[in-house]
Amino acid sequence: MPTPLDEDPIVVSVEELRTARDGLARFLLEYRFGLQEVETKLSILREEFLTMHDYNPIEHVTSRVKSPDSLVEKVSRKGIDPGFESIRHNITDIAGVRVTCSFTADAYRLFDLLTAQSDITVRAVKDYIADPKPNGYKSLHAIVEVPVFLSTGPMQVPVEVQFRTIAMDFWASLEHKIHYKYAGDVPAALVDSLKDAADTASELDDRMERLHRELHGPRPTGPALRV
Ligand code: GTP
Ligand code: MG
Repeated sequence: MPTPLDEDPIVVSVEELRTARDGLARFLLEYRFGLQEVETKLSILREEFLTMHDYNPIEHVTSRVKSPDSLVEKVSRKGIDPGFESIRHNITDIAGVRVTCSFTADAYRLFDLLTAQSDITVRAVKDYIADPKPNGYKSLHAIVEVPVFLSTGPMQVPVEVQFRTIAMDFWASLEHKIHYKYAGDVPAALVDSLKDAADTASELDDRMERLHRELHGPRPTGPALRV
């Protein structure tokens, strides 16, 4: 007699499965293009600074398109309707770019230069540098929309861009690992230590920025850098 485990759980046809897979691949492709547009903008700014001012405002840029697994998890966690239109509307971090700078002033400068570009629409900004999270997390977040030109016409693609310093990034990656290890239930002593480390990182950022200013004077400004 068949047990429930022997029953075939697949209730869609192979054809339907293929259609779903192709639909998701095409959906995520739009976000990959959005990432590429933002990355190009950032690398142009970086090269311009390097060439014109012999100064590199960006330490590194990383980017990712949310994995199908993590997308499905978020859709289910947030109770969002699983259709593409609804996901497009409700989940704005499918495409994510992280810009890591040496100094806080550079993080703001890059944010200003990117968001001032005429084809960029700013949908939301969260300034966790000015207003850190209670755990000590600092970063400047922007959800921007960038146009992507497909054969079917242009479309606006949302991209989450996070600007932070090396010290903020160092802290955030460790905090993320700890958060993950304890499945969100981090022991109180560790939470306190993390907050303490965040304060130290923040002090280091301030001191390094002061030293840098003493050495080089204020950051370069001027029409060449205004978009
Ligand atoms: P979701 O968490 O993506 O639903 O978005 P949200 O509305 O909470 O946005 P928020 O701007 O707070 O966080 C977006 C992203 O910032 C996260 O996915 C992380 O990459 C990063 N982030 C936010 N808070 C923290 C934090 O406390 N620690 C670490 N390590 N990263 C954080
Ligand atoms: Mg979050």
